[in-house]
Amino acid sequence: MPALSSPTIRVATLADLAAVVALEQACFALDAQTGRSLRHLLTRAHGDFLVAVIDDAIVADVVVLYRRGSRVARLYSIAVGPAARGRGVAAALLAQAERHAIARGCVVMRAEARWSNTASRGLFAAAGYRETARLADYYPSAGGGHEDGVRLQKHLDN
Ligand SMILES: CC(C)(COP(=O)(O)OP(=O)(O)OC[C@H]1O[C@@H](n2cnc3c(N)ncnc32)[C@H](O)[C@@H]1OP(=O)(O)O)[C@@H](O)C(=O)NCCC(=O)NCCS
Repeated sequence: MPALSSPTIRVATLADLAAVVALEQACFALDAQTGRSLRHLLTRAHGDFLVAVIDDAIVADVVVLYRRGSRVARLYSIAVGPAARGRGVAAALLAQAERHAIARGCVVMRAEARWSNTASRGLFAAAGYRETARLADYYPSAGGGHEDGVRLQKHLDN
């Protein structure tokens, strides 16, 4: 397999909408955001929407949301396309997202993940996040029931 170039991380624009919709559908079975929601995040949300690009293709994205008057940032979504996984792309995106949150004056980053999402929990653990709460029946599951989640938190070094 030829080695892939390392990703460039940049701020997303509305021109990236189709690519991030496709990425979302490739990455999430049950939790995929709609095009309308992604458009809102790209254009109107109080947040940072970053993409990782390899050879002119968007391979991953991350969204961080902020609330006015709060120094707690929320890592709303992070996704890496299946072909680009396992080579540090999410770790690089998460680190860049944290830098953006720090630049906005935030001191804490929070996130949630499905209890069963080993890759996501591993990613956050490796980046220094603590699991602070188990969230009962937090996510819809495939069978029509619900699945627990986990809340994650990290103090950001300013
Ligand atoms: C979770 C996800 C973003 C990880 O992306 P990735 O680019 O493959 O992750 P990285 O290569 O940057 O891995 C960073 C660390 O995360 C952990 N990790 C990544 N994949 C893992 C896996 N399958 N199992 C366990 N730990 C894993 C490891 O600690 C890894 O560090 P290491 O390679 O030095 O051991 C990716 O699997 C994904 O997009 N999944 C579908 C969408 C999703 O679940 N998003 C998160 C919602 S909360």
